[in-house]
Amino acid sequence: MAATAPPKTPAPVGRPLFSRIRLATPLDVPHIHKLIHQMAVFEHLTDLFSATESALSSTLFNSEPFHSFTIFILEVSPNPFPESTVEPFYKPTVWAVNLDLPIKDPDRDTFRSEGDDVVVAGFVLFFPNFPTLTGKPGFYVEDLFVREYYRRKGFGKMLLTAVAKQTVAMGYERMEWAVLDWNANAIKFYEEMGAKVYQPWRICRLTGEALLAYRTAE
Ligand SMILES: CC(C)(COP(=O)(O)OP(=O)(O)OC[C@H]1O[C@@H](n2cnc3c(N)ncnc32)[C@H](O)[C@@H]1OP(=O)(O)O)[C@@H](O)C(=O)NCCC(=O)NCCS
Repeated sequence: MAATAPPKTPAPVGRPLFSRIRLATPLDVPHIHKLIHQMAVFEHLTDLFSATESALSSTLFNSEPFHSFTIFILEVSPNPFPESTVEPFYKPTVWAVNLDLPIKDPDRDTFRSEGDDVVVAGFVLFFPNFPTLTGKPGFYVEDLFVREYYRRKGFGKMLLTAVAKQTVAMGYERMEWAVLDWNANAIKFYEEMGAKVYQPWRICRLTGEALLAYRTAE
């Protein structure tokens, strides 16, 4: 009788990078501040960047998550994340991606999170809005950002998916956000996520002197 070949065990693909999306806490503020600055640099908007860590600390964590400003933090680690037990508002999403090559992250010390091996790689900030036509709240996404060295590995998709999942779980019917018209990569990414880009809508903003002029308005 001819010997049969042993069943083939699939070879492990690449090296795993463990990932977690969790709610931000006030301890994350220094990282959030730096991520917002990197977002401003990316969008060529550093002249508008005036956020301070103390302003973020005193504003972002004053109410229950999802009922006001909410931030999901994306972290990565070469080691698995421990199972989270006490999470009253949001059970972190954990998963692993397989990389062909290790990521060279020159800013890893700046973005080191708890423990030695955990690094913050991105964030999404969102809050409820109220589309009157549906008569139900939705979420407005203010910022979605994945640090340069971690892009095109599915992390942006996971962050936006986490918000979309929460939107559905809360019975809301809409997520909305703005994108700069030159940001073709982000537009393609959003369209692939199933979003529609509405060309006719323009952003209106009242700020600075134009806003302050109303201080004494009657
Ligand atoms: C836009 C952004 C959040 C996307 O995150 P990401 O982690 O790079 O995206 P993902 O890896 O999850 O991409 C999922 C899919 O979207 C599409 N996509 C994402 N980035 C793309 C790019 N630069 N060019 C073309 N398609 C892209 C691809 O189809 C991709 O799947 P694939 O890599 O298997 O082809 C990230 O690139 C980023 O932070 N950019 C800078 C800041 C920014 O533009 N924020 C949005 C402001 S509105």
